[in-house]
Amino acid sequence: MRIFLTRRWPDAVERRMAELGEVVLNTDDHALDRAELIEALNTCEVVCPTVTDNLRAEVWAAAQPRTGLLANFGVGYNHIDLSAAAEHGVKISNTPGVLTDATAEIALSLLMMTARRTAEGERHVRAGEWTGWRPTHMLSSQVCGKTLGIVGMGRIGVRLARMAKHGLGMHILYHNRSAVAESVALELAAARVDLDTLLGSSDFVSLNCPATAETHHLINARTLGLMQSHAHLINTARGDVVDEAALADALNRGEIAGAGLDVFEAEPAIAPALMSLSQVVLLPHMGSGTVETREAMGMCALRNVEAYINGEPLPNQVGA
Ligand code: DGY
Repeated sequence: MRIFLTRRWPDAVERRMAELGEVVLNTDDHALDRAELIEALNTCEVVCPTVTDNLRAEVWAAAQPRTGLLANFGVGYNHIDLSAAAEHGVKISNTPGVLTDATAEIALSLLMMTARRTAEGERHVRAGEWTGWRPTHMLSSQVCGKTLGIVGMGRIGVRLARMAKHGLGMHILYHNRSAVAESVALELAAARVDLDTLLGSSDFVSLNCPATAETHHLINARTLGLMQSHAHLINTARGDVVDEAALADALNRGEIAGAGLDVFEAEPAIAPALMSLSQVVLLPHMGSGTVETREAMGMCALRNVEAYINGEPLPNQVGA
Protein backbone atom coordinates (compact mmCIF):
# COMPACT_ATOMS: atom_id res chain seq x y z
CA MET A 1 0.00 0.00 0.00
CA ARG A 2 1.56 3.32 -1.10
CA ILE A 3 0.68 6.28 1.09
CA PHE A 4 1.55 9.69 -0.36
CA LEU A 5 1.99 12.63 2.02
CA THR A 6 1.77 15.75 -0.10
CA ARG A 7 3.59 17.89 2.51
CA ARG A 8 5.98 17.10 5.38
CA TRP A 9 4.18 16.08 8.58
CA PRO A 10 5.44 16.12 12.18
CA ASP A 11 8.19 13.48 12.55
CA ALA A 12 6.33 11.31 15.03
CA VAL A 13 3.37 10.97 12.66
CA GLU A 14 5.50 10.30 9.59
CA ARG A 15 7.23 7.52 11.57
CA ARG A 16 3.89 5.97 12.63
CA MET A 17 2.58 6.23 9.06
CA ALA A 18 5.61 4.28 7.82
CA GLU A 19 4.37 1.35 9.93
CA LEU A 20 1.18 1.25 7.86
CA GLY A 21 2.66 1.07 4.38
CA GLU A 22 5.20 2.45 1.92
CA VAL A 23 5.18 6.17 2.62
CA VAL A 24 6.07 8.48 -0.27
CA LEU A 25 7.35 11.85 0.95
CA ASN A 26 7.59 15.22 -0.72
CA THR A 27 11.04 15.60 0.76
CA ASP A 28 11.59 19.30 0.09
CA ASP A 29 8.01 20.15 1.14
CA HIS A 30 7.11 22.24 -1.92
CA ALA A 31 3.51 22.93 -2.94
CA LEU A 32 2.65 20.27 -5.51
CA ASP A 33 1.58 21.28 -8.98
CA ARG A 34 -1.22 19.77 -11.05
CA ALA A 35 1.01 17.17 -12.75
CA GLU A 36 2.47 16.02 -9.43
CA LEU A 37 -1.00 15.65 -7.91
CA ILE A 38 -2.22 13.63 -10.88
CA GLU A 39 0.87 11.40 -10.60
CA ALA A 40 0.17 10.88 -6.88
CA LEU A 41 -3.48 9.96 -7.56
CA ASN A 42 -2.47 7.60 -10.37
CA THR A 43 0.21 5.76 -8.42
CA CYS A 44 -0.72 5.68 -4.71
CA GLU A 45 -3.59 3.87 -2.97
CA VAL A 46 -3.78 6.54 -0.28
CA VAL A 47 -3.09 10.24 -0.77
CA CYS A 48 -2.96 12.58 2.24
CA PRO A 49 -3.42 16.13 0.95
CA THR A 50 -3.57 19.51 2.65
CA VAL A 51 -5.19 22.85 1.93
CA THR A 52 -2.37 23.67 -0.55
CA ASP A 53 -3.37 20.85 -2.91
CA ASN A 54 -5.83 21.91 -5.57
CA LEU A 55 -7.86 18.75 -6.09
CA ARG A 56 -10.63 20.39 -8.04
CA ALA A 57 -12.51 18.98 -11.05
CA GLU A 58 -9.82 19.57 -13.69
CA VAL A 59 -7.31 17.42 -11.81
CA TRP A 60 -9.78 14.55 -11.45
CA ALA A 61 -10.73 14.84 -15.14
CA ALA A 62 -7.11 14.25 -16.12
CA ALA A 63 -6.39 11.48 -13.60
CA GLN A 64 -6.90 7.73 -13.71
CA PRO A 65 -6.78 7.31 -9.96
CA ARG A 66 -5.43 4.29 -8.22
CA THR A 67 -6.21 6.18 -5.01
CA GLY A 68 -9.10 4.91 -2.89
CA LEU A 69 -8.69 7.29 0.05
CA LEU A 70 -7.88 10.96 0.42
CA ALA A 71 -7.04 11.40 4.11
CA ASN A 72 -6.96 15.17 4.35
CA PHE A 73 -4.61 16.78 6.86
CA GLY A 74 -7.05 19.48 7.98
CA VAL A 75 -10.68 20.01 8.82
CA GLY A 76 -11.50 22.22 5.80
CA TYR A 77 -11.77 20.38 2.48
CA ASN A 78 -12.91 23.06 0.04
CA HIS A 79 -9.78 22.34 -2.04
CA ILE A 80 -11.23 18.93 -2.95
CA ASP A 81 -14.04 18.43 -5.46
CA LEU A 82 -16.13 15.94 -3.53
CA SER A 83 -18.38 14.84 -6.38
CA ALA A 84 -15.48 14.32 -8.80
CA ALA A 85 -13.70 12.25 -6.13
CA ALA A 86 -16.91 10.27 -5.49
CA GLU A 87 -17.29 9.57 -9.23
CA HIS A 88 -13.89 7.87 -9.05
CA GLY A 89 -15.01 5.94 -5.95
CA VAL A 90 -12.55 7.80 -3.71
CA LYS A 91 -13.38 8.17 -0.02
CA ILE A 92 -12.42 11.32 1.85
CA SER A 93 -11.69 11.94 5.51
CA ASN A 94 -10.74 15.08 7.46
CA THR A 95 -9.51 15.99 10.95
CA PRO A 96 -12.34 17.63 12.92
CA GLY A 97 -12.19 18.43 16.63
CA VAL A 98 -8.44 18.40 17.17
CA LEU A 99 -7.78 21.94 15.94
CA THR A 100 -10.61 23.70 17.73
CA ASP A 101 -8.58 25.27 20.56
CA ALA A 102 -5.63 26.31 18.40
CA THR A 103 -7.77 27.98 15.76
CA ALA A 104 -9.93 29.76 18.33
CA GLU A 105 -6.70 31.03 19.95
CA ILE A 106 -5.56 32.57 16.67
CA ALA A 107 -9.00 34.14 16.09
CA LEU A 108 -8.78 35.69 19.55
CA SER A 109 -5.17 36.79 18.92
CA LEU A 110 -6.20 38.51 15.68
CA LEU A 111 -9.10 40.18 17.44
CA MET A 112 -6.80 41.53 20.15
CA MET A 113 -4.08 42.49 17.65
CA THR A 114 -6.37 44.47 15.40
CA ALA A 115 -8.34 46.06 18.26
CA ARG A 116 -5.30 47.00 20.32
CA ARG A 117 -2.98 47.71 17.36
CA THR A 118 -0.27 45.45 18.76
CA ALA A 119 1.32 44.51 15.42
CA GLU A 120 1.46 48.18 14.50
CA GLY A 121 2.98 48.99 17.91
CA GLU A 122 5.64 46.33 17.49
CA ARG A 123 6.56 47.62 14.02
CA HIS A 124 6.72 51.14 15.47
CA VAL A 125 9.18 50.10 18.19
CA ARG A 126 11.38 48.03 15.85
CA ALA A 127 11.50 50.89 13.34
CA GLY A 128 13.01 53.06 16.09
CA GLU A 129 10.08 55.47 15.85
CA TRP A 130 8.97 55.36 19.49
CA THR A 131 9.70 58.64 21.22
CA GLY A 132 8.16 57.74 24.58
CA TRP A 133 4.85 57.48 26.44
CA ARG A 134 2.21 60.15 25.96
CA PRO A 135 -1.54 60.19 26.67
CA THR A 136 -2.63 60.27 23.04
CA HIS A 137 -0.13 57.83 21.55
CA MET A 138 -1.42 54.87 19.50
CA LEU A 139 -4.91 54.80 20.96
CA SER A 140 -6.89 51.67 20.22
CA SER A 141 -10.24 49.99 20.92
CA GLN A 142 -10.92 48.28 24.22
CA VAL A 143 -12.21 44.73 23.85
CA CYS A 144 -13.66 43.85 27.27
CA GLY A 145 -17.44 44.11 27.36
CA LYS A 146 -17.85 44.66 23.61
CA THR A 147 -20.06 42.63 21.25
CA LEU A 148 -18.60 39.76 19.26
CA GLY A 149 -20.60 38.45 16.30
CA ILE A 150 -19.64 34.95 15.22
CA VAL A 151 -20.53 33.74 11.73
CA GLY A 152 -20.49 29.94 11.86
CA MET A 153 -21.09 28.54 15.33
CA GLY A 154 -19.46 25.14 14.98
CA ARG A 155 -16.77 23.83 17.31
CA ILE A 156 -14.34 26.71 16.68
CA GLY A 157 -17.04 29.37 16.87
CA VAL A 158 -18.29 28.04 20.21
CA ARG A 159 -14.74 27.78 21.60
CA LEU A 160 -14.02 31.37 20.60
CA ALA A 161 -17.32 32.49 22.13
CA ARG A 162 -16.36 30.80 25.42
CA MET A 163 -12.95 32.53 25.48
CA ALA A 164 -14.55 35.88 24.67
CA LYS A 165 -17.46 35.53 27.10
CA HIS A 166 -15.66 34.06 30.08
CA GLY A 167 -12.30 35.76 29.57
CA LEU A 168 -13.32 39.18 28.30
CA GLY A 169 -16.95 39.59 29.32
CA MET A 170 -17.99 40.03 25.69
CA HIS A 171 -21.59 39.82 24.51
CA ILE A 172 -22.08 37.09 21.96
CA LEU A 173 -24.22 37.14 18.83
CA TYR A 174 -24.06 34.34 16.32
CA HIS A 175 -25.30 33.46 12.87
CA ASN A 176 -25.57 29.78 12.06
CA ARG A 177 -27.83 27.44 10.09
CA SER A 178 -28.93 25.75 13.32
CA ALA A 179 -29.19 26.95 16.90
CA VAL A 180 -26.54 25.83 19.40
CA ALA A 181 -27.66 23.54 22.24
CA GLU A 182 -29.78 25.38 24.77
CA SER A 183 -27.22 24.78 27.53
CA VAL A 184 -24.52 26.44 25.38
CA ALA A 185 -26.77 29.39 24.48
CA LEU A 186 -27.54 29.88 28.17
CA GLU A 187 -23.90 29.54 29.26
CA LEU A 188 -22.83 32.14 26.70
CA ALA A 189 -26.00 34.25 26.86
CA ALA A 190 -25.64 34.02 23.08
CA ALA A 191 -28.34 35.33 20.75
CA ARG A 192 -28.87 33.77 17.30
CA VAL A 193 -29.55 36.48 14.74
CA ASP A 194 -29.63 36.86 10.97
CA LEU A 195 -26.42 37.89 9.23
CA ASP A 196 -27.42 41.50 8.56
CA THR A 197 -28.41 42.06 12.20
CA LEU A 198 -25.15 40.51 13.39
CA LEU A 199 -23.05 42.69 11.10
CA GLY A 200 -24.88 45.84 12.11
CA SER A 201 -24.71 45.16 15.86
CA SER A 202 -21.20 43.75 16.42
CA ASP A 203 -18.00 45.54 17.39
CA PHE A 204 -16.04 42.52 16.19
CA VAL A 205 -17.13 39.99 13.57
CA SER A 206 -15.37 36.63 13.43
CA LEU A 207 -15.78 34.31 10.46
CA ASN A 208 -15.76 30.67 11.52
CA CYS A 209 -17.89 29.07 8.81
CA PRO A 210 -16.79 26.51 6.20
CA ALA A 211 -16.08 27.62 2.63
CA THR A 212 -19.02 26.46 0.54
CA ALA A 213 -20.92 27.76 -2.48
CA GLU A 214 -23.27 29.53 -0.02
CA THR A 215 -20.50 31.26 1.95
CA HIS A 216 -18.44 32.33 -1.09
CA HIS A 217 -17.97 36.14 -0.75
CA LEU A 218 -20.49 36.22 2.09
CA ILE A 219 -18.57 39.30 3.19
CA ASN A 220 -18.81 41.65 0.22
CA ALA A 221 -19.44 45.32 -0.52
CA ARG A 222 -23.06 45.11 0.63
CA THR A 223 -22.45 43.19 3.85
CA LEU A 224 -19.35 45.23 4.74
CA GLY A 225 -21.54 48.31 4.33
CA LEU A 226 -23.75 47.00 7.15
CA MET A 227 -20.87 46.90 9.66
CA GLN A 228 -20.23 49.73 12.08
CA SER A 229 -17.40 52.14 11.25
CA HIS A 230 -15.54 51.20 14.45
CA ALA A 231 -15.94 47.45 13.83
CA HIS A 232 -13.23 44.91 13.03
CA LEU A 233 -13.45 41.79 10.84
CA ILE A 234 -11.58 38.60 11.79
CA ASN A 235 -11.15 35.70 9.35
CA THR A 236 -9.67 32.36 10.37
CA ALA A 237 -12.06 30.35 8.16
CA ARG A 238 -11.19 30.49 4.46
CA GLY A 239 -10.16 33.33 2.18
CA ASP A 240 -13.03 32.78 -0.25
CA VAL A 241 -15.59 33.83 2.39
CA VAL A 242 -14.40 37.43 1.95
CA ASP A 243 -14.34 39.52 -1.23
CA GLU A 244 -10.88 40.94 -0.57
CA ALA A 245 -11.18 43.79 -3.07
CA ALA A 246 -14.38 44.91 -1.35
CA LEU A 247 -12.71 44.57 2.05
CA ALA A 248 -9.78 46.77 0.99
CA ASP A 249 -12.26 49.36 -0.35
CA ALA A 250 -14.28 49.32 2.88
CA LEU A 251 -11.11 49.78 4.95
CA ASN A 252 -9.87 52.59 2.71
CA ARG A 253 -13.23 54.37 2.91
CA GLY A 254 -13.36 53.94 6.72
CA GLU A 255 -16.52 51.82 6.53
CA ILE A 256 -14.89 49.49 9.04
CA ALA A 257 -11.94 50.13 11.36
CA GLY A 258 -9.70 47.12 10.86
CA ALA A 259 -9.30 43.48 9.96
CA GLY A 260 -7.36 40.48 11.20
CA LEU A 261 -6.80 37.85 8.54
CA ASP A 262 -5.21 34.40 8.74
CA VAL A 263 -6.55 33.14 5.40
CA PHE A 264 -6.67 34.66 1.90
CA GLU A 265 -8.40 34.20 -1.42
CA ALA A 266 -5.23 33.30 -3.34
CA GLU A 267 -2.84 32.38 -0.54
CA PRO A 268 0.09 32.55 -0.22
CA ALA A 269 -0.40 35.63 -2.44
CA ILE A 270 -1.83 38.58 -0.54
CA ALA A 271 -3.71 41.34 -2.34
CA PRO A 272 -1.38 44.40 -2.46
CA ALA A 273 -4.39 46.56 -1.49
CA LEU A 274 -4.50 44.75 1.87
CA MET A 275 -0.74 44.52 2.32
CA SER A 276 -0.42 48.30 2.33
CA LEU A 277 -3.01 48.95 5.08
CA SER A 278 -1.63 49.39 8.60
CA GLN A 279 -5.03 48.65 10.19
CA VAL A 280 -4.95 45.09 8.82
CA VAL A 281 -3.17 42.28 10.65
CA LEU A 282 -1.94 39.57 8.28
CA LEU A 283 -0.94 36.08 9.43
CA PRO A 284 0.31 33.15 7.31
CA HIS A 285 -2.59 30.67 7.77
CA MET A 286 -1.36 29.55 11.18
CA GLY A 287 -4.68 28.87 12.95
CA SER A 288 -3.96 25.21 13.65
CA GLY A 289 -0.20 25.70 13.86
CA THR A 290 0.74 24.48 17.33
CA VAL A 291 3.03 21.49 17.85
CA GLU A 292 0.29 19.74 19.79
CA THR A 293 -2.40 20.37 17.20
CA ARG A 294 -0.39 19.54 14.08
CA GLU A 295 0.60 16.21 15.68
CA ALA A 296 -3.02 15.58 16.64
CA MET A 297 -4.16 16.39 13.09
CA GLY A 298 -1.59 13.96 11.70
CA MET A 299 -2.65 11.22 14.12
CA CYS A 300 -6.29 11.83 13.25
CA ALA A 301 -5.54 11.47 9.52
CA LEU A 302 -3.48 8.38 10.31
CA ARG A 303 -6.42 6.73 12.13
CA ASN A 304 -8.46 7.17 8.97
CA VAL A 305 -5.70 5.62 6.85
CA GLU A 306 -5.45 2.71 9.27
CA ALA A 307 -9.23 2.15 9.19
CA TYR A 308 -9.19 2.24 5.37
CA ILE A 309 -6.38 -0.32 5.19
CA ASN A 310 -8.24 -2.58 7.63
CA GLY A 311 -11.48 -2.26 5.65
CA GLU A 312 -13.19 -0.54 8.60
CA PRO A 313 -15.51 2.50 8.51
CA LEU A 314 -13.55 5.75 8.42
CA PRO A 315 -13.75 7.62 11.75
CA ASN A 316 -13.98 10.99 9.97
CA GLN A 317 -15.46 10.38 6.54
CA VAL A 318 -16.81 13.42 4.72
CA GLY A 319 -19.17 13.48 1.75
CA ALA A 320 -20.99 10.34 0.56
C1 DGY B 1 -7.86 23.36 8.36
O1 DGY B 1 -7.72 22.35 9.04
O2 DGY B 1 -8.87 23.55 7.67
C2 DGY B 1 -6.74 24.33 8.37
O3 DGY B 1 -7.16 25.57 7.90
C3 DGY B 1 -5.60 23.82 7.51
O4 DGY B 1 -6.13 23.37 6.31
